[in-house]
Amino acid sequence: MKTGIITGSGRGIGFSTVKLLLKKNYKIISLTRSENGNLNTLIHNNKKNFKNFYIDLSNINETRKLAKHIFSKYKIDFLINNAGIRSRYPAEKLSDKIYKDVFDTNFFSPMALTEEYIKHIKKIKNKKKMLSIVSLTSIVGPRGFSELSSYAASKGALEYGMRSLAIEYAKYNVRINCVAPGFTKTSYFSSFKKKKNKLYNWTLNQIPLKRWGEPLEIANTIEFLISDKSSYITGNVIYVDGGWVSK
Ligand SMILES: NC(=O)c1ccc[n+]([C@@H]2O[C@H](COP(=O)([O-])OP(=O)(O)OC[C@H]3O[C@@H](n4cnc5c(N)ncnc54)[C@H](OP(=O)(O)O)[C@@H]3O)[C@@H](O)[C@H]2O)c1
Repeated sequence: MKTGIITGSGRGIGFSTVKLLLKKNYKIISLTRSENGNLNTLIHNNKKNFKNFYIDLSNINETRKLAKHIFSKYKIDFLINNAGIRSRYPAEKLSDKIYKDVFDTNFFSPMALTEEYIKHIKKIKNKKKMLSIVSLTSIVGPRGFSELSSYAASKGALEYGMRSLAIEYAKYNVRINCVAPGFTKTSYFSSFKKKKNKLYNWTLNQIPLKRWGEPLEIANTIEFLISDKSSYITGNVIYVDGGWVSK
């Protein structure tokens, strides 16, 4: 069975993906920032197949150090760059610091992990084994959204970086793809629905399937991309968005 790394597994899409992958007998190494009850229970109930490290991934030096440690100890078949932060500001309130913070987590950290993974891949002897990297991008980027320019820029950079890495490293039998969710019912859903009800109703009206996505619907797509069922897909983005970007 495959062993892989996932970031940002404490809540939302990351947590759902870990639960799904453990159910399907994958071995998971998770890198996430905060402890919580649900995560503790999952760790406790899956001691054999689930190892968790607490880390703030926006600290790029620490992220590289931990990645090197993991790659020296485990043979890794896939990497899921899921951790990400939101950043909603009108343009006149943006600052270099805001851009730096959002890029550290959403772009520099997944790129650093990916680079370390590629160094590891180059050392793997069995080059026939198919490996996979999946990064979480967004419908924000290919589509413009008011007050989300810093987030859009970070996800756009990540998507375009991953597309080029897919071409550069295809020779090592590693497939590199992105999953771009639309509006998904994760940690911000309830407060968004309550506090920004007008905007929430506008999103419902814009989504062709007329509902927000479930974290499990994103997790299923991630699992497809790390599995050999997607063996001829690389350098691509799969939108899991109820039809938003095609509208
Ligand atoms: N939900 C959506 O509608 C949506 C739409 C498009 C794209 N996405 C993308 O999908 C991914 C997952 O989103 P989500 O909604 O599931 O997010 P979420 O509910 O906010 O959960 C994010 C997880 O990542 C962790 N994390 C964030 N920054 C971190 C850091 N610097 N170091 C370590 N861990 C960190 C969080 O830890 P803490 O608990 O410590 O915060 C949390 O466990 C993100 O990349 C997001 O941009 C989401």
